[in-house]
Amino acid sequence: MAIVTGSDGITPREGWSSRTAFVLAAIGSAVGLGNLWRFPAEAGANGGGAFVLFYILCVVLIGLPVLLSETLIGRYGQSSAPESVRRMATESGASRHWDVLASIGVLSALLIVSFYCVVGGWVLYYIGVFAADVVQTGIGGGAFEGRDPAEIEGLLPGLFGNGPLMIGLDAAFLGVTLYFVARGVKGGIEKVAVWMMPAFFVLLLAITVYGAFGGAFRESAVYLFTIDFSKLTGPVMLAAVGQAFFSLSLGVATMITYGAYVGRDVNLAGTSGTVGFADTAVALVAGLCIFPIVFAAGLAANAGPGLMFQTLPHAFQTMPGGSLVGLLFFVMVAFAALTSSVSLLEVPTAWMKERFGIRRGVSASVIAAMAMVLGALAALSFNELGDFHPLGFVPLFEGQGVFDVLDGLTSKLFMPIAAILTCVFVGWIADRRLIDAENGLEGGLHRIWLLLVRWLCPLALIGILLVGIFPSLTA
Ligand code: TRP
Repeated sequence: MAIVTGSDGITPREGWSSRTAFVLAAIGSAVGLGNLWRFPAEAGANGGGAFVLFYILCVVLIGLPVLLSETLIGRYGQSSAPESVRRMATESGASRHWDVLASIGVLSALLIVSFYCVVGGWVLYYIGVFAADVVQTGIGGGAFEGRDPAEIEGLLPGLFGNGPLMIGLDAAFLGVTLYFVARGVKGGIEKVAVWMMPAFFVLLLAITVYGAFGGAFRESAVYLFTIDFSKLTGPVMLAAVGQAFFSLSLGVATMITYGAYVGRDVNLAGTSGTVGFADTAVALVAGLCIFPIVFAAGLAANAGPGLMFQTLPHAFQTMPGGSLVGLLFFVMVAFAALTSSVSLLEVPTAWMKERFGIRRGVSASVIAAMAMVLGALAALSFNELGDFHPLGFVPLFEGQGVFDVLDGLTSKLFMPIAAILTCVFVGWIADRRLIDAENGLEGGLHRIWLLLVRWLCPLALIGILLVGIFPSLTA
C-alpha cells in the first residue's frame, strides 16, 4: 500500500478510514444546534411552508456549490486550510495571499468553538437536571412532577446567574471535544462521528415517533408546511439563505480541513450531495420532533432562544415518561453539538500543528486553552461581566457582551466574507484544470455548478453580509 505523506514529505498523512467515515464526520459537523433549534424557530417565525421550500432551494443552489468548493480545495491541497488554498493559488499562478480566506476561517473557528462549548455546557446542565429527575421521581409520570412550570422555565436564567457553574460546564464540554481532537483523525474525530451520528439519528426518530402520539402532529405539520407564498418577502428569503449557509457550516474552513483527509477515489460532488440532503432532512425532522411536543402541552412555539431550553422542558412536564424522554432529548442534542465542536476545534488545530511542526495533542491543547479563556469571558458576559462591551464603540456591536460579540463577529462578518472569497477564488481565480480534476461533476451539471459559484452564490452571500451589517435594510 502506498503511504501518502504529509506536507513535509516524511510523516504519513492523516486521513479518513473510509468514505462513510468522512460523510458521517461532515454530517456531524453540519448537524448541530442550527438544525435542532434554529431551523424550527426560523421556519415558524417566517411563515412555515414557503420558508421551508425556499430554504431547500437555497441549500441546493447556494449551499451545495460552496460546500463542494470548500471540500475540493482541501482535497487538492492535502494540508491545513490556509496551506491548501496557498497551494492551489500558487499552482494557478495567483497570489498566495488568497489564503486569507482560510485564515479568516481558522480565526472564526477558534472564536465559534469558544462560545459553542458554552452552549454545549448548557446542554450538559439539562442532561444533569433530567437525570436527577429520573433518579428522584422515576420514569412513570411527567418530568418535574409537582414543581411549578415557572420554576422549570427559571432554570435557564438561574444557570445564567451562576458564572462559575457555566465556566465549569464549558470546561467539561471543551475537555471532551479536546480529547477526541487530540486523538487524531482516525482515532478520535472519526470515532466520535461514527458512533454518535447513528445514535443521534435513532434518538431523533424515536423521540419524533413518541411525540407524534401526543396528538399534535397534524397541527405541527400544518404549522411547518402550509405554503403561503405571500409570506415570502425579501427579509424572509434572506433569513432562509443565512440559515442554509449556517446549517451547512460554510465559511469556517471546516470543509476545507475535512476535505484534506479525503482519498483521491472519492467523488466529492456525491458526498456533498449526501451531506446537504442529510442536514436538510434532520432540520425538517427536528421540526416534526419538537413542535408536536410543544403544541401537545398547549405552549407557544415562537419563544426564540427559549424554545429548546425553556418551553421544551416545560412541555416534558405533562408528557408520560417526560423525564426519561427529556433526558434522551438532551443527550441527543449533546451528540449533535459535540460532533460540531470537534470539527471546529480541528480547523485551528490542524493549522497550528502544521505551521509550527508540533504534535497534534500539543496544538489541540494550546487552541483549547485559548478557547477556554474566551469561553470563560463569554460565560461571564451573562452575569459578572454583563456590563463589559468589548466592541461597544462599533455601532454593530453596541451594548453587546463577549458572547454576542463572538457570535455576531463570526456569523455576520467573518463567515460571509470568507465564503464570498471562496466563491471568487474557486469560480474565477483558480486554474480550471485543477478544479475540474477534483470536483466529480460532468457535463451540464458541471456548467451549472460553475455558473452558481461564479454568480449566484457570491451575490446571495453579499446580500447576507449587507443585511448583517445594516440590519435596518430588512426593517
Ligand atoms: N452547522 C452548525 C449547526 O447547524 C453550526 C455551525 C456553523 C458550525 N458553522 C460551523 C459547526 C462550523 C461546525 C463548524 O449547528
